[in-house]
Amino acid sequence: MTNPDEPFEFARTGHISRNRAVLAAMTNKQSDSDGTLSEAEINWLLMRAEGGFGIVTTAATHVTKNGQGWKGEMGVWGDHHIPGLTTLANGIRKRGAISLAQIFHGGMFAPEAITGERPVSASENPLSGDSKDTSRRLSSKEIEGIISSFGDAAERCSKAGFDGVELHGAHGYLICQFLGEKTNRREDEWGGGIAERSRFLMRIIEDVRNKVPDDFILGVRISPEHRKVGVRLHDSLELSDILVDAGVDFLHISCWDCSWGSSEFVDDRRTLTEWFSERLGNRVPIISAGGIWSTSQAKTVISHGADMVAVARAAIGHADWATHLSEETYDPLKPPFSPDHLVEQGLSETFVDYMRGWDGFVS
Ligand SMILES: Cc1cc2nc3c(=O)[nH]c(=O)nc-3n(C[C@H](O)[C@H](O)[C@H](O)COP(=O)(O)O)c2cc1C
Repeated sequence: MTNPDEPFEFARTGHISRNRAVLAAMTNKQSDSDGTLSEAEINWLLMRAEGGFGIVTTAATHVTKNGQGWKGEMGVWGDHHIPGLTTLANGIRKRGAISLAQIFHGGMFAPEAITGERPVSASENPLSGDSKDTSRRLSSKEIEGIISSFGDAAERCSKAGFDGVELHGAHGYLICQFLGEKTNRREDEWGGGIAERSRFLMRIIEDVRNKVPDDFILGVRISPEHRKVGVRLHDSLELSDILVDAGVDFLHISCWDCSWGSSEFVDDRRTLTEWFSERLGNRVPIISAGGIWSTSQAKTVISHGADMVAVARAAIGHADWATHLSEETYDPLKPPFSPDHLVEQGLSETFVDYMRGWDGFVS
């Protein structure tokens, strides 16, 4: 069986990751108000590159100014972001890791309080359970504009020296809102069955491809299931076939508890990683994320068919997490972490404050 400390090669682009450990995208609120990277944010990511991760992914970063979901979010919508991105990409490469920017648009979760505009989505959707406010349905022309902004954002990342991008199709944001049957009730070419609901994502892939060099990594992160937007496992499996046909370099499934959790909707004990690996075989590399802390959990997820494992919370608490993957019994300390420990691990006060909102994370 493959060990998590073994290298992995991306067949199409030739990039070699020194191990199977991916730093998952993590919002950290440390960017400046115009979306440029702060020194603190660059520092936090470079510490994880130094700490042995094979791939370092940035936080979700918005591709249009009005696609911003929260304060302190990293942006990639303007050329003024390129100098910061360049510093980060160079630093990650120097430390031996592959760099990915996770590009996204918040859609109905880009609040008016931040953007000054009514949130947009595939359809007119309630913005929250108890509110009468709704998102505005995008016109086809606006959809084309956003697709092009994804391509422009990827081109900026490429110019800055990033190895690739991860399209954020998970967690209910705009791409996910197009994929979901609840939030996409369109009757035009952008809505219908999963083939039609994935058209927005497919067109983004095409636009990115047209604007970046051949050896630029292009992967997609999805939520296999998402109750609120109406993403169901069987549609996601069908989507994964469509993504294979589109030639993506990896499929990243965000599972929240991937080493043991099974489907929320389907009565079947297989883990989500098993569902996807059985469906896809070796047709596309699978990255699986959620609830991995120990080497033994990483190995379990790989034994279920993942090619790489992504970690978030364990990497906040332990910058050097990836260097321990050769230790069979490695099982690092879990939250709550003291603020002092988190500062030692390269988090700024802003980031520590943000983590106080994650139940039980900060003591
Ligand atoms: C502080 C924090 C910020 C996150 N921000 C993002 C994000 O920007 N994009 C994303 O796709 N997932 C985000 N996630 C989800 C993680 O990437 C990951 O899928 C999730 O935390 C489960 O993995 P874990 O158990 O290793 O933490 C975030 C998670 C945390 C803890």
